[in-house]
Amino acid sequence: MTKVLVVGSINMDLVVETATFPRLGETLFGQGFATHPGGKGANQAVAAARLGAQVTMLGRVGKDAFGQQLVAGLQAEGIDTRWIGSSDAATGIAAITLCQADNAIIVVPGANALLTPADLDAAEAAFADAEVVLAQLETPLPTVEHAAALAARHGKPFVLNPAPATRLSDALLAQCTLLTPNEFELASALGQPDADWQALLGALPGHVVMTKGSQGAFYTEANGAVRRQPAFPVKPVDTTGAGDTFNGALAAFWHLGLAEAIRHACAAGALSVTKPGAQGGMPTLAELQAFLGAQA
Ligand code: RIB
Ligand code: NA
Repeated sequence: MTKVLVVGSINMDLVVETATFPRLGETLFGQGFATHPGGKGANQAVAAARLGAQVTMLGRVGKDAFGQQLVAGLQAEGIDTRWIGSSDAATGIAAITLCQADNAIIVVPGANALLTPADLDAAEAAFADAEVVLAQLETPLPTVEHAAALAARHGKPFVLNPAPATRLSDALLAQCTLLTPNEFELASALGQPDADWQALLGALPGHVVMTKGSQGAFYTEANGAVRRQPAFPVKPVDTTGAGDTFNGALAAFWHLGLAEAIRHACAAGALSVTKPGAQGGMPTLAELQAFLGAQA
């Protein structure tokens, strides 16, 4: 059982279903509304926990109903929430428009924006205890940089999912054991919007796994050789959180080595899109094993 520390965001997703995206100034009738637990950090924590990892979550919520509901949900997944603080800002939300399994998202960080490096220092024991530290970019960049530094201080692998897309400092890049962007996030992270992804993968050999939707995941070995894990074909219902499931699974299966961890992560990501909500389709270990067995 891998011990995973997730440093990141906790949001309530407010999901509206629509047949077409509205144009500017247009009013449409939607087909449905639901609230689902979300936030890239929390999603990744839940994905890892369902797959059997021992997960600790470090983050912040507001002193409001969403915050209470979200923390209770994480606890119900068996996640250690003792390092989730509260703040006077509202719990983070994501306004999600879901249109034929595709989505457009506006995140209002709220309490997530108040997660500080000092909060991480207070939880240093959690870094010492972890086997893998996993972070994303929905909390302030200095906090993410501090997470990388604390992971390094304790000799723990630091996996960064650089989403949403942001330029990263060379110092942070150097502290990432593994970076897990999609194609756009990779170019953004390295500040080279026009560069070819293959060249960018080659710039950080052994340290990047790039997800590429239905094409699967591409990664480089330490010697620079590019490898591909094909995607598992499924019928998508809601792709929200597929990347988060991939990341949580990658951390949960870290002990299997990169290639096998990526294969499991691709399968978990595929299953996740078959049900509504970011966390809805995230498989348990038994479900993932059954799925992989059926592919063989
Ligand atoms: O990655 C998906 C997540 O991004 C959603 O759950 C939403 O909260 C946004 O943060
Ligand atoms: Na889903």
